[in-house]
Amino acid sequence: MNARVIIFDTTLRDGEQALQASLSVKEKLQIALSLEKTGIDIMEVGFPISSPGDFKSVQSIAKNIKDTKICSLARCVKKDIDAAAEAMSLAKNFRIHIFLATSTLHIKSKLRKNFNEIVEMAIDSVRYALRYTDDVEFSCEDAGRTNKDDLCYIIEKVINEGAKTINIPDTVGYTTPREFSSIIKDIFERVPNVHKSIISVHCHNDLGMAVGNSISAIEYGARQIEGTINGLGERAGNTALEEVIMAIKVRKDILGVYTNIKHHEIYRTSQIISHICNMPIPSNKAIVGSNAFSHSSGIHQDGVLKNRENYEIMAPSLIGLKEVKLNLTSRSGRAAVKHYMDEMGYKDIDYNINELYSSFLKLADKKGQVFDYDLEALAFINTQQEKMEYFSLHFFSVQSVYNGLSTASVKLLCGSKIHTESSTTSNGPVNAIYQALNRITKYNVILKKFQLAAKGQGKDALGQVDILVECDNRKFHGIGLATDIIEAATQAMINVLNNIWKVKQVDKKLKNK
Ligand code: KIV
Ligand code: ZN
Repeated sequence: MNARVIIFDTTLRDGEQALQASLSVKEKLQIALSLEKTGIDIMEVGFPISSPGDFKSVQSIAKNIKDTKICSLARCVKKDIDAAAEAMSLAKNFRIHIFLATSTLHIKSKLRKNFNEIVEMAIDSVRYALRYTDDVEFSCEDAGRTNKDDLCYIIEKVINEGAKTINIPDTVGYTTPREFSSIIKDIFERVPNVHKSIISVHCHNDLGMAVGNSISAIEYGARQIEGTINGLGERAGNTALEEVIMAIKVRKDILGVYTNIKHHEIYRTSQIISHICNMPIPSNKAIVGSNAFSHSSGIHQDGVLKNRENYEIMAPSLIGLKEVKLNLTSRSGRAAVKHYMDEMGYKDIDYNINELYSSFLKLADKKGQVFDYDLEALAFINTQQEKMEYFSLHFFSVQSVYNGLSTASVKLLCGSKIHTESSTTSNGPVNAIYQALNRITKYNVILKKFQLAAKGQGKDALGQVDILVECDNRKFHGIGLATDIIEAATQAMINVLNNIWKVKQVDKKLKNK
């Protein structure tokens, strides 16, 4: 009988802490529900002591998630452990995850302690957390750079105290697969009570080896893998769970383990998380990138037509990616739109049908036919935008001359008034529009990032623009989707302007109090 690998998702903790803008309670719950539907075994949903917002979202998830065990992070500090337990008190059962650095570098230069003090803190904290739950996980932060004698010693002590899961993080993504698996091998050979716990790994991707390291750890006995969907996380990110899950499935011949994941939910969950977190998925990303199952060269296309297995190691349907289906037109009703969303696995809570239907009609008028991937894109752009916005686009026109100037003219509805401005620049049509918008709003907007991606396939693709701007020392994200990329870029900036406007309203209220 093959062994099961427990899948521990930390998208809402390690993943979320790396986002430019933190997620709302509702958005976090939406992600948690999606992870639950995917069959994730344990989800780490926050670090409750870190902020009241985090505490609240952990509470809300604890109340609403039934099938997946939830977990919260705490330092080896009593008030952290109390906060974690309190935030999760409404859950049927929960895990407390405590962590403490064990490498000499972290102990000396970050914690300014000695190793004996660290061992004592770890033991005391495991004992303290056990007052709230019998499911305590202990993480040796920076284990990848920890002396093996020290690592084995502290692991034995915390297992003795009652920690059921021991996590070995490669916190800075420093190790190579052979080196990392030798750490796991040593733990199994040298820690006498290791059989009383599950050995878990948590890899970061600084050298691009997070998935490789996690798989090599499985080969040496690790039975819990920690990571995030789409590999979100600090710096270069965490282990991309969808990659580990599919490697376990596709290479069961050599790995000999299995997971309880519902593979056909992977694509949908990846999409939801990408949209809510405003983190586009690179097109060549393994498993969930838009090119992951497309074949470009003639030889490959010919090979796939003769037999898919020539160039495909897994069927796209395995991760829930359906064949492109047609076809909705402007004559299709709301029920048809909802039916397609149901078919793609989305629940009512994932999107707003009224907003989706109205953007669908606009797109259908422009494009004629609307595909299922168009609907998916529209649905999530809508979740990012409020219904009643202060600024909305009334009209724009641009003229661009090769090697010359671009001129834009914009009419922007501001509240109930239309304002018109124009601008000329040598930096292209988008810049000309952005300058005209700046002249209207007079916000001090500095563009930091501009990303354009095709949503959909071939000539039918929609353009999606994601931008990041700075205004008065705050960062704002904007997203726009349209058949015309200049319009998508304009909508992305208007999305930002509305977000700035809302923040300014709150600031004004606070000032008047
Ligand atoms: O990367 C890390 O070491 C962590 C710990 C808190 C587990 O995220
Ligand atoms: Zn981490």
